[in-house]
Amino acid sequence: MPVPKTATALAFPRPFPKVTRMNFELTEEQQLVLSTARDFARKEIAPKAAELDKTARWPREIVAQMADLGFLGLAVPTEYGGAGLDNVCYALVIEEVSAACASSGVIMSVNNSLFCDPLTKFGTDYQKKEILTPTAQGKMLGCFGLTEPTSGSDARTMLTVGEKQGDGGYLLNGSKNFITCGPEAEHIIVFAVTTPHPDKPRHTALIVRRDAAGYSVSPHDEKLGIKAAHSSSIYFDNVRVPAENILGEEGSGFKIAMATLDGGRIGIAAQAIGIARAAYEKAVAYSKERKAFRTPIANLQAIQFMIADMAVDLDAARLLTLRAATMKDKGVRHTAESAMAKLFASEMSSRVTHKALQIHGGYGYIAEYGVERHMRDARITEIYEGTSEIQRIVIAASALKG
Ligand code: CAA
Repeated sequence: MPVPKTATALAFPRPFPKVTRMNFELTEEQQLVLSTARDFARKEIAPKAAELDKTARWPREIVAQMADLGFLGLAVPTEYGGAGLDNVCYALVIEEVSAACASSGVIMSVNNSLFCDPLTKFGTDYQKKEILTPTAQGKMLGCFGLTEPTSGSDARTMLTVGEKQGDGGYLLNGSKNFITCGPEAEHIIVFAVTTPHPDKPRHTALIVRRDAAGYSVSPHDEKLGIKAAHSSSIYFDNVRVPAENILGEEGSGFKIAMATLDGGRIGIAAQAIGIARAAYEKAVAYSKERKAFRTPIANLQAIQFMIADMAVDLDAARLLTLRAATMKDKGVRHTAESAMAKLFASEMSSRVTHKALQIHGGYGYIAEYGVERHMRDARITEIYEGTSEIQRIVIAASALKG
């Protein structure tokens, strides 16, 4: 029997193959990137995380440092301003950054996964040179406009419209909301209905500049968590989008959005793992210090069982996420695997942060200990880039297909 390629062999829902070479070791490059990210996150980001959460300040200096390290275009080829690394590195770095500050983690994720990645895959030479390159270098930021006030999960029913113009461009009208990095980004990829139809509308992806006439941005949202990662509504009032800013094939915008989210969900899974890991590490340390019943609480089975469950949860989420990242690196379709990673990691993050707070008892409820922040930050990972319910729809569709 021929030995299947590793990434394909591990893909869901194929039966587990008899002969599989599994390699859980990171390459030297991946280890180097990981230790650079860990060092940077611990020294430069973590000390600021509580203040960023409290004040909801945009972390300008951290974004600039991430740009210098190549983290804002991590998996973009070097010829387009990126660091030219793989998606395993990308997931490892997002985990480290998010363990220090979940807001910084999602800022990184949006620029990489939701903006640079579709430009790398579908962009024209002009778009790669003029828009992707400076964005991957972190000289400017990009964001992603799919969600609207009346269409989140049911993304195809969006109301934003693009009307074809004589010059080949589009006239854009509508609005998008909950746009992470919306107030700070230079460009947004907007998905708009360009061929209306009651059942099968067709959409086109358009790259829009924030200084275009008719473009406006609301004040940033006040949120439960990831407060420093500003999100906002964006309005398009007769915005002219030139033909050179059409991303990919006209009418294929929805598929571009879905394919982009296949990668985006790896980033959010890694973010969820980082948040959970930070809470877990705090809980383990606290359990060794805090005494109850004349012993450190780490000696109590009630606490040990929670720590054991947290450790298993974290490891399982990381393995699912690195599998999806490996498949993306190998160019294998990873829709179901990304959805599985994102679903498991996000729900795991809520479970683990909840237990970490429980281990801290009353102190966990106090901001000073920093555990309640992780619990608030974890919650969004079950919602954005597709709710847990949407991930289950995607996984079930794959499971029932063949
Ligand atoms: N890759 C390529 N093509 C894909 C695809 C993928 N992963 N998934 C679907 N498609 C294609 C389908 O093959 C289909 O093609 P045809 O028309 O040729 O048959 C087309 O796209 C439509 O697919 P569906 O019929 O499955 O579409 P649907 O309307 O039933 O919706 C859905 C599917 C999974 C529910 C989708 O609407 C969805 O993912 N919704 C959630 C949206 C979401 O995740 N939003 C997050 C916003 S971004 C964000 O949150 C950013 C942030 O703040 C950080």
